Amino acid sequence: MCFKKVILLLSILPFALCQDISDPSPFPRPLIIEYAEINGARLGDCLSVEVQLKCTSWRVAVEANNLSPWARIPEDCADYVKEYMVGKGYELDLQRVSNESENYARSASLSGDGKDAWIFDIDETLLSNLPYYEEHGYGLEIFDSTKFDQWVEMGTAPAVESSLKLYNAVLSLGIKAFLLTGRSERHRNITVHNLLKSGFQDWNKLILRSTEDHGKTATKYKSEKRDELIKDGYRLLGNSGDQWSDLLGSSTANRAFKVPNPMYYIP
Ligand SMILES: *[C@@H]1O[C@H](CO)[C@@H](O)[C@H](O)[C@H]1NC(C)=O
Ligand SMILES: *[C@@H]1O[C@H](CO)[C@@H](O)[C@H](O)[C@H]1NC(C)=O
Repeated sequence: MCFKKVILLLSILPFALCQDISDPSPFPRPLIIEYAEINGARLGDCLSVEVQLKCTSWRVAVEANNLSPWARIPEDCADYVKEYMVGKGYELDLQRVSNESENYARSASLSGDGKDAWIFDIDETLLSNLPYYEEHGYGLEIFDSTKFDQWVEMGTAPAVESSLKLYNAVLSLGIKAFLLTGRSERHRNITVHNLLKSGFQDWNKLILRSTEDHGKTATKYKSEKRDELIKDGYRLLGNSGDQWSDLLGSSTANRAFKVPNPMYYIP
C-alpha cells in the first residue's frame, strides 16, 4: 500500500514541479535541482502537459508506422524527443522489446538442425548512434550521409545493451544470428571492428549493401536478402529492427520485433 503511494507521488511530481517553476513563489531551489537530477533533465526542460501529450501521440504514430514517410521530427517535439532518448523512456521501451523477444525465442520450438535463424538490424538495434544524434538534434536536422559516414568510420558506436542481452540469449539457444544492415559494403571492416568492440560476436553472416543494392529501398534490399536465406533453408524465427523497412516485405520472420526509434525514418 505504502509502495503504491510513493509511485503515485513520483508520477505526479514532474508535472507539479514543472507548473510551479513559473510560479511567482517557486519551491526552494534545492528541491527543483534535486528533481532535475532524478529525472536526468536539465532545469528548464519541463514540457507543458499539452506538448507531452501531442508528442507522445506523434511518437506512438511513428512507432506503429501510421505516420510514414517523414523526414525529420516536428520542431515542437525537439525537447520531448531529447528527453525521451536521454531519460528513462527509451531505455524502458528497449528493455521491454528485448524481454518480449527473448521470451518468444525461449518459447519457440527449435529444430536444432542449425537452420533456426534470427535477423538483427545494426544501427539503433545492435549499435547505438545516440552519441552522433546528440550532436545533431535527435532527428531535428535533415540526415547528412557524409557526416554520418564519418561517425560510422570512427567505429565507436556503443552497444544497445538490451539488444546485446537478447543477442546472447538467442545464440545460447542455438539460433543462428544474421546481421542485415543498410550500411555499405565499404564499411564492412569498421562495422566488424565496432561490433566486436561492443561485445557482439559469433554471428553467422554479416550482410551489407553491395553496389547493386544501392538505390533500392531498405524494404526491397532486405526482403531480397531474406529471400536468399529462405532459399538456403533457414527458418526465420525472429527479426529485430528499429525501422519498419527492416521488418516488412517478403520472407518475413515468424515474429517481428520493433525496436524503438523516434529519431529517423528509413523507407
Ligand atoms: C526486463 O527483464 C529484466 C530482467 O528479467 C527486468 O529486470 C526488467 O525490469 C524488464 N524490463 C521491462 C521493461 O520489462
Ligand atoms: C578488411 O579486413 C581484411 C582482413 O582483415 C583485409 O584483408 C582487407 O584489406 C580490409 N579491407 C579494407 C577495405 O580495409
